[in-house]
Amino acid sequence: MNKVLDRSELSAMVRNGMAHAKAHTLAKVPDVVALPADRYFDPAIFASEVERIFKRVPLLLAVTAEMPKPGDFKALEAAGVPVLLSRGQDGVVRAFVNSCSHRGTNVAAEGRGNARRFMCPYHGWTFTQKGELMGIASADDFGDIDKSCYGLTPLRVTERAGLIWVIVNPDSTFSFDAFLSGYDKLLAHYGFADWHFHSSQVIQGPNWKIAYDGYLDFYHLPVLHKNTFGEQMLNQALYYAWGPHQRVQAPSPDLLNFEGIAEEDWSTEDMLNGVWTVFPHISIANFNSGVRTVMISQLLPGATVDTSVTTQIFLTAKVPDAAEAALVDGQCAFLEHVVRDEDYATGFRQQAALKNGGRKHVLFGRNEGGAQRFHQWVDRLIAAADDDALEQLFVSG
Ligand SMILES: [Fe+2]
Repeated sequence: MNKVLDRSELSAMVRNGMAHAKAHTLAKVPDVVALPADRYFDPAIFASEVERIFKRVPLLLAVTAEMPKPGDFKALEAAGVPVLLSRGQDGVVRAFVNSCSHRGTNVAAEGRGNARRFMCPYHGWTFTQKGELMGIASADDFGDIDKSCYGLTPLRVTERAGLIWVIVNPDSTFSFDAFLSGYDKLLAHYGFADWHFHSSQVIQGPNWKIAYDGYLDFYHLPVLHKNTFGEQMLNQALYYAWGPHQRVQAPSPDLLNFEGIAEEDWSTEDMLNGVWTVFPHISIANFNSGVRTVMISQLLPGATVDTSVTTQIFLTAKVPDAAEAALVDGQCAFLEHVVRDEDYATGFRQQAALKNGGRKHVLFGRNEGGAQRFHQWVDRLIAAADDDALEQLFVSG
């Protein structure tokens, strides 16, 4: 399938990376940016981020490999909204507010599974995989009710490149195409629709932006991660942007391995190396521990400004054999340790120091264009008054 995809954008990035690797240069942004420190601890700012970003833009809430078969479902909470994703017998993924039309409780417990129908655990009302109200317990007591008016509330959803995005506001008109800015076509090179779900694990983190800054940041790798994996790593990154979505790639000497190979023979896997972030809350990182693996880190804001929840979802390009699976398990445990005990432990300390230390600003250097761009998009989205204004941001880039 990958053969038919246009690889020209990928190869242009390879050539750009090779040029920087050869010349030992970096594409730097014009200015050092000072960001007000209260962006990380002010509860009012946090509330506006949840309302104006997480409740308005498409969120990558699931991957195809988590729910590949008809009847598969996934229930989770995003920005406080309970969401139910359900794949029908027709293979189509639908999304709903996970809330019974009788009295509102969740019709499916959080997690994943396979179900022919959803039965509310409170009074037993049942709903189809398409969210239609199917059965009412003691129906006579509800009189001549029009069942077609009492389905689960639908949410807009799109499944592309083996990834599933949902807008948690039922009234949204915001365009998926505008939001994705063509980035989904790059992610399609992975072919995630055919990958295998290995496992997932949850890590509690600090403020979502403190956590997310780290995913865009290679500058810290040889310092914070010197005892785990970072000692020999470059502290530099090249950033490539499609709207607010950014690919992060080191100008590593490894890129010079492409030299002397005809471009049509370049390995797509090698061309995809580095980190692919999806605004506002996803990072996709590549690993190979016997079998090709990605870690999809899905960050969601917690209940308060100083908390977030990260689910690390591990996919493998094929079903691993027992020996490979053991290696992937080891990789999962290692990455849990790195993120929890190095990145987020540091983030919690950073958060407390900013909140209580009186520092007015934090700095992003000319080498940290990725985080600068991320915070610019956060500001733009919060400033956009409605879905039309939101869409305008993406049209104008
Ligand atoms: Fe890190």
